[in-house]
Amino acid sequence: MTGTPAPVPARATVGIVGGGPAGLLLARLLHQAGVDCVVLESRDRAYVEQRQRAGILEQGTVDALRSSGAGERLDREGLAHDGIELRWDRRAQRVDFPSLTGGHRVWVYAQTEVVKDLVALQLRDGAPLLFDARVSSVTGAGTDRPVIHYAHGGADHTVVCDYVVGCDGFHGVTRKAVPEGELRTVGRSYPYSWLGILADVAPSNEELVYAHSPRGFALLSMRSPAVSRLYLQVPNGTDPAAWTDERIWDELDARFAVDADWTLARGPITQKSVLPMRSSVTEPMRWGRVLLAGDAAHIVPPAGAKGLNLAASDAIVLARAFGQLARTGSTAGLDAYSDTCLRRVWRAEHFSWFMTTTLHTAPDQPAFDTRLQYSQLDRIAASPHAAAELARNYVGMPVG
Ligand code: FAD
Ligand code: DHB
Repeated sequence: MTGTPAPVPARATVGIVGGGPAGLLLARLLHQAGVDCVVLESRDRAYVEQRQRAGILEQGTVDALRSSGAGERLDREGLAHDGIELRWDRRAQRVDFPSLTGGHRVWVYAQTEVVKDLVALQLRDGAPLLFDARVSSVTGAGTDRPVIHYAHGGADHTVVCDYVVGCDGFHGVTRKAVPEGELRTVGRSYPYSWLGILADVAPSNEELVYAHSPRGFALLSMRSPAVSRLYLQVPNGTDPAAWTDERIWDELDARFAVDADWTLARGPITQKSVLPMRSSVTEPMRWGRVLLAGDAAHIVPPAGAKGLNLAASDAIVLARAFGQLARTGSTAGLDAYSDTCLRRVWRAEHFSWFMTTTLHTAPDQPAFDTRLQYSQLDRIAASPHAAAELARNYVGMPVG
């Protein structure tokens, strides 16, 4: 599918800063609801479509993509997963989702593909979506006509909006439109990062494997039946170039090791990158006519696979609220937006922190802490209640 972006109007009901998953899904859902909006994205289309990030979609995200028209390739190429495997202390335990959650599961479908599908649909429909458009500021948050200021094609432009939604990620500018002291950000960092690789080799397990090891955490995921996505815990500040392919495979082998017969298939590594980890929440997610969604409002460490799904659920809640406003004139949904989303955000923050701290080994971690981690993992293996708690969090809360 190809298409040419429609010209960006100088006036819009909803101005969206950032064309990542949150901004694109919101724009798509608003377009379908007949609410006019513009998306301004600082990067070019190829960059946004190839930025390698998350890979797990919850049911609510899949449902929203399907109803937005972006479900066709997802249904064809996405891989439905009914469980994950946990490994620790050379043993393995599968956590079965459907039996523990009343029939729920997740899908493996990369963020790159979600973004490609949403961009293609918006361009096909001639919806205003502008790449290479860097927003410098948002002004008038406390008025009924906030203004987005951006640069594109060597000139400065503005869009006057009824509402502005900041979907511009953790380093975005939209948050700065709110007067100092009105928003509160709390968070924490972690003393480790992930080295993520893509490899042209069939995944060595049908389901994802989350491995605790005294050498550090490792995760086996996938992008397709022929492409593996793997992650290794590494020290903060690691240069990916310091890790040769052989060193990566040897280390993964050691961390996934179990007493049972299992081998990790190796293949050409096509991409390496290091991602730092943090938890952060900005509250409330709305001030005046400016709203925040996705990573612009909250960050989770990746071990719970929640970042992309939280971005999607914010977009879904917000699209419903704008739809209600357009249909009935009621701002009830917008007024409830922050509280509605923050309930889910804090649950995901807790789960992501839990997965991170249960599965990683901190530098100089006391042996006592490792025994506590084993005890927690042993309990998940032994207790259906503990396994169900993990499974329910992993498949996600219903949206709303
Ligand atoms: P983003 O995807 O960050 O999109 C924000 C968009 O705003 C970007 O396109 C950016 O270019 C644009 N923008 C920023 N500033 C401006 C501006 N001034 N003007 C215009 N546009 C602007 N989650 C997982 O669950 N699993 C993972 O493995 C995982 N890996 C990740 C790896 C990395 C390196 C990062 C950064 C995140 C990862 N995440 C992962 C988190 C997940 O990808 C995010 O939660 C998700 O992308 C959030 O979507 P978003 O649309 O809110 O933000
Ligand atoms: C992927 C990333 C995650 O952080 C995770 O918990 C599961 C899968 C992935 O990129 O495939």
